Amino acid sequence: MVKVENLSKEFIMHIRNDAQIEGFEGICLEVEAGTLTAVTGPSGCGKSSLLKCIYRTYTPTGGHVWYTRENGEQTDLATAEPWEIIELRKQEIGYVSQFFSVIPRVSAMDILEQTQTSRGVEEKAAREKAEEYLSCVGISKSLWDMYPATFSGGEKQRLNIANALITKPRFLLLDEPTASLDKVSKEWVMKLILDLKDQGTAMLGVFHDEIAIHTLADQRFEMRERHLVDMDYKMDYASEVLAEAIG
Ligand SMILES: Nc1ncnc2c1ncn2[C@@H]1O[C@H](COP(=O)(O)OP(=O)(O)O)[C@@H](O)[C@H]1O
Ligand SMILES: [Mg+2]
Repeated sequence: MVKVENLSKEFIMHIRNDAQIEGFEGICLEVEAGTLTAVTGPSGCGKSSLLKCIYRTYTPTGGHVWYTRENGEQTDLATAEPWEIIELRKQEIGYVSQFFSVIPRVSAMDILEQTQTSRGVEEKAAREKAEEYLSCVGISKSLWDMYPATFSGGEKQRLNIANALITKPRFLLLDEPTASLDKVSKEWVMKLILDLKDQGTAMLGVFHDEIAIHTLADQRFEMRERHLVDMDYKMDYASEVLAEAIG
């Protein structure tokens, strides 16, 4: 469904005499429907920038991101026009950011409802589904009509995830979705991700947590010195880490 070819990103700092900061280069990977590809790597190596280039928050410097749309047409996300990107984000492509920015004075329930009604879902159905998802990510009922600005970091992150998953995107980018969550919340979120994968969503995500990778990922790459290295996902290794983590 998604084929990344030779993607590169270079940042130009205009405030510093157009100094260039190298992001990454020569990134190639493919993500099939109903599978999850995990990207790992040290902090600052460019993982978030890679996701942002694919979601087109950043404009890639070179390469292609071939995306096969629901209607079968191929679009190069790296060079598509902004209006097309906006349309695809509304209809097919989702993104869970690493840091959740809260919309002021909109309740958790209203956020999830509006995400759906803006895509044409009828109000009553949107409300019911919002209730289902808020329960699924373990946000207690007393918080549903509150403003998320007052939520804890973990609650904000879970709302963020529910908001991205509620529209069941065909292609989903996840930036450290389980990073700030406790064990139980992590399990709720992993279950939602697995459900979506079962329904055919293609996912590309940045993860650190070995248990999450072992549970969710079908293939795994590590970012090293601006390039992606195929980790040839080894079940033995993952099982060992899992055994050690569980104790
Ligand atoms: N908007 C930007 N402008 C300039 N440099 C940036 C920008 N975003 C990211 N970078 C550079 O890319 C590097 C990698 O950042 P990031 O992709 O967030 O890494 P990671 O997610 O792996 O921790 C940063 O150290 C920074 O130098
Ligand atoms: Mg990051």
